[in-house]
Amino acid sequence: MADWLAGLHRRAELRAKAGLTRRLRPRAAGDAVVDLAGNDYLGLATHPEVTGAAAQALSAYGLGATGSRLVRGSTDAHHGLEAALADWLGTDAGLVFSSGYLANLGAVRALTQPRTLLVSDAHNHASLIDGCRISGAETVVTPHADPAAVARALAAAPGRPAVVVTESVFSVDGDLAPLAELHAVARRHGALLLVDDAHALGVLGPAGAGGVAAAGLAGAPDVVVTATLSKALGGAGGVVAGPAEFVRHLVETSRTFIFDTAPPPAVAAGVRAALRLARAGDGLRAELADRADRAVARLRAAGLAVSAPDAAVVSVTAPGPEAATAWAADCADKGVAVGCFRPPSTPDSRSRLRLTISVGVDRADFERALDVIVECAPGERVEVTS
Ligand SMILES: Cc1ncc(COP(=O)(O)O)c(C=O)c1O
Repeated sequence: MADWLAGLHRRAELRAKAGLTRRLRPRAAGDAVVDLAGNDYLGLATHPEVTGAAAQALSAYGLGATGSRLVRGSTDAHHGLEAALADWLGTDAGLVFSSGYLANLGAVRALTQPRTLLVSDAHNHASLIDGCRISGAETVVTPHADPAAVARALAAAPGRPAVVVTESVFSVDGDLAPLAELHAVARRHGALLLVDDAHALGVLGPAGAGGVAAAGLAGAPDVVVTATLSKALGGAGGVVAGPAEFVRHLVETSRTFIFDTAPPPAVAAGVRAALRLARAGDGLRAELADRADRAVARLRAAGLAVSAPDAAVVSVTAPGPEAATAWAADCADKGVAVGCFRPPSTPDSRSRLRLTISVGVDRADFERALDVIVECAPGERVEVTS
């Protein structure tokens, strides 16, 4: 084996020893697996109105966008979706990116000048962390969900432009950031607040408008919202929403927007149809919240350490990475897909099963899946968190 490949092999062996091997498992269309691992919270990925809208756009526009947004890739479908997103989120404007990851990289970078201080929550998603890194700005990582620590970080940099960077619903434990407090602290220090609403859009807030709207911050002039269109909206792509002048700045300067082929118009059309359904989906949201509560109650009753979720992400602590992998594999053998999160995908050294609740799953299958998770749990129990 060539030296560089032998080096990679040694590193793979080290990961295997630490229980951190990762493997792709192909999924067949329409398989019978009960899905508590995907992010299709409202079950819209397969909704006939969504797939129908996408199919129509597919035959009208073809498979791809054929170019970047500033060249030939900016179709009516993209513009219609952006207007609908801004209207839903209560912002002046919105801009669609190819993914939530690229939206976050673009947003953080665009909010940063040479002297900017970024104040980033310790549990933030990798895309926000990478956004801070590529911005080149000084970044202070504050303890999780701690407005007082954010205030101290901002007070230590008087007179400097600053941005507080957080998720709304955190992707690993499903808890909600104290957005109103963070906004008050940011405003007091003249800082901006950037919120990644990935796991709250469609799930929380009035008409599902997300965590920022739920905190009463929709349209605030010092708040920028990002989100992926791949979770409750069941599609793909990302959005940055905020003041029109900021969106104009992104269009003219954001490298992850400019130097990237536009997302397929069929996806934009499908997501727009999903948005209409999500906006009118209070019944779906009530069922989702009921299922999240039910999952917590069932798993806690079995003595498992379960997070206190604020949306549809439920995290269950495993004794270690190997135990988490074995637990998830046993569930998979019994036809239940659950997320298996181990370092470095967790903000601490704890490994977890992550259940993402979806109303697209049949209710009886959902109940059976909870039984399977309990049956497959490792003998060793971890102390219950909160
Ligand atoms: C909180 C959060 N932000 C951003 C992303 C990235 O979004 P996308 O998958 O559209 O790149 C994810 C995961 O997908 C996420 O969980």
